[in-house]
Amino acid sequence: MTEINQDFADGVLHSRNPETNKNDYGRILCVCGSAGYTGAAYFSAQGAVRMGSGIVTLATPEGAWPVLAVKLNEPVVRPMPQDENGLFSIEALPKLLALAEKADALLIGCGLGRSDTLTEIVCTLLEKAACQIVLDADGINSITGHKDILRRTAKPVVLTPHAGEFARLSGKPDATAADAAQFAQDYRCIVLYKGHRTRIFTPDGAAYRNTSGNPGMAKGGSGDVLAGMLVSLCGQGIDAVPAACTAAWLHGRAGDLAANALSEYGMTPSDMLTQLPILLKRYN
Ligand code: APR
Ligand code: MG
Repeated sequence: MTEINQDFADGVLHSRNPETNKNDYGRILCVCGSAGYTGAAYFSAQGAVRMGSGIVTLATPEGAWPVLAVKLNEPVVRPMPQDENGLFSIEALPKLLALAEKADALLIGCGLGRSDTLTEIVCTLLEKAACQIVLDADGINSITGHKDILRRTAKPVVLTPHAGEFARLSGKPDATAADAAQFAQDYRCIVLYKGHRTRIFTPDGAAYRNTSGNPGMAKGGSGDVLAGMLVSLCGQGIDAVPAACTAAWLHGRAGDLAANALSEYGMTPSDMLTQLPILLKRYN
């Protein structure tokens, strides 16, 4: 198992070429949020912004839009048709497919909620999108009954489950990291298995272990920040496996800086978003 550390990240991230513009840093589409869950969509979109993306678009149900359009300055927030529960409705699907066509990387899932329609939307995006896809939270929950779809995507999907989400996905209530490693091979996907020491497993059997992070990060919203950072690196042209490893490292380090400054008890995912750019100064 390869350890992920500062040297690993330094081998992946480089200084930005002066002769570039926002189109060189990726167009990210986040399909996230619902009328009841605006925080997760906020953290994911802002994670992508802080990780250096050129353009971040957040597609969210129209009931969540007024809140998110005020909370988010840099991303373009697009209101989408919703059902009576404030979740994406099927009328959103053609609009999402059109947005996905223009994206360099796609994040599906943070704060999405659960419905049969969402399962159809998530599965269709997985089947039709050509770009790199990151699947988190309810994006993962949505495909529990349709795991075979992971074998039919244009590129291996990156799944970012915590232990509970992976247990549901795999159908094994006592699933372990070893099951996640097997799942990655069986379904030809990349599994970023979140925990105190997050592991990344690849379709060809490679395994990586992150060495940063602390229990101050055990707060709702931390995982959404990670998902946004990861899709951002994918959109900047970094291959999915090094992107997943580097995102896990930087996310943990941002958590460690936040804990040093503000304590494990008092730090928040918002503080991690503030600390991340300080870590990235070494790549100026
Ligand atoms: N040490 C290091 N890192 C940790 C620790 C720890 N003790 N605890 C948590 N983390 C990190 C994980 O590695 C992961 O990157 O914080 C992040 C937590 O991510 P999630 O578990 O996805 O949590 P999040 O999505 O932010 O919030 C809770 O999970 O069960 C769902 O529906 C629930 O939306 C809710 C969400
Ligand atoms: Mg989560």
